[in-house]
Amino acid sequence: MKALKVGIIGFGTVGTGVYKVLQSFPNVEIIKIAVKNINKKREIENFDNNILTDNPYEIVNNPEIDVVIEVAGNVDPTFDILTTAIKNKKHIVTANKELLAKKGSELFKLAKENNVIILYEAAVAGGIPIIMPVKTILCANKISKIAAILNGTTNYILTKMSEKELSYETALKQAQELGYAETDPTGDVEGFDAAYKISILSTISFNKKVDINKIYREGITKITAQDIKSAKELGYTIKLIAMGQVLEDGKIDVRVHPMLVARKHLLAKIDNATNSIMLTGYPVGDLVLTGAGAGAEPTASSVVGDLLVLSAELESSDSPLPQAVCNHSEIADQIDIGETYNEYYISITASNNPGAIGIIGTICGKNNINISTIMQKGINEDNTAEIVVITERSKEADVQNALAELLKSNNIKNINNLLRVMN
Ligand code: HSE
Repeated sequence: MKALKVGIIGFGTVGTGVYKVLQSFPNVEIIKIAVKNINKKREIENFDNNILTDNPYEIVNNPEIDVVIEVAGNVDPTFDILTTAIKNKKHIVTANKELLAKKGSELFKLAKENNVIILYEAAVAGGIPIIMPVKTILCANKISKIAAILNGTTNYILTKMSEKELSYETALKQAQELGYAETDPTGDVEGFDAAYKISILSTISFNKKVDINKIYREGITKITAQDIKSAKELGYTIKLIAMGQVLEDGKIDVRVHPMLVARKHLLAKIDNATNSIMLTGYPVGDLVLTGAGAGAEPTASSVVGDLLVLSAELESSDSPLPQAVCNHSEIADQIDIGETYNEYYISITASNNPGAIGIIGTICGKNNINISTIMQKGINEDNTAEIVVITERSKEADVQNALAELLKSNNIKNINNLLRVMN
């Protein structure tokens, strides 16, 4: 069997993990690794620095290389580097969710024209095998729903807020000190990372191109210790959920936002940095896949897995993995958040006046919102009270109208938070 010759772009945590795992596969020969800083000290035994370059184009223009492994991240300049690789007839294995979410259509079109393929198991949920299963063994299914925890950093922060009754700021700081959250945590805590992943997963699951710009996205920065406490008292835990579903009329609902998840729900039990994906399809029914969504070794499992599948296919056929080719001509008709239906958690600060709860009930009623639970616990020192409302299934636009109306009332001091609920 001829050795597969690869170039690796990016040599951080994931790149180093891939390098180490590949040492057990003599049939894969690493020709070059592109890094930012050639002189950086690397903690790898018997490592020869001559394999390094600081010019990724030396990899994508090298005629000897068959496959480019891209684990550098970012859209710019990675998009240009990978388009050059594809035009030079190199297959791609990538973990770059942002690039695929923003530029996937262009890359896959170019790959088709050049008869090469792009594999990206590591781009969604790190070590959990989900892309290849959806594109191969689950292809008999009509997938109708995905609900998932796709970001380990936010799940870690929310777990610590819940376990230790910490504020968001304290939990974030601790997560940064322990290396779970980055110095600039925006990509994770504002839900961008999860949105990239659910756009990729929804596109391949529903067989329609989902537009990342039309995904409603809300992060976890507004979740307070009080929200977590109230949720707990009501039997829920708060999680950042990435979801996608096909509605009865064929429209597609894809979004990322924190949710109150009922304690009995499987996703409520997924703690710390673990990821989990619940998928519903016909005829398979419900599936749950749980595992590490990040980290050197779990991510290397997916990258090297893609590479070995590709290697085996290249040995046996000239047109590898027809199922793995991503070609979505149909565009998803994505609905706006205002058109969605959910159960809601609404935290309200009201004046401690007779009739304040009555006003909430009246305004909800006027806007077609049926309240299922209402909770007030005592009175604050400033003579206000926190009132928590859980609603039955309501239209988001109606809920937004009700909140605007509530804020006009003298008895309502603040809407502290609005979260959606999953039972
Ligand atoms: N930063 C991501 C997470 C992993 O926290 O899950 C890479 O996408």
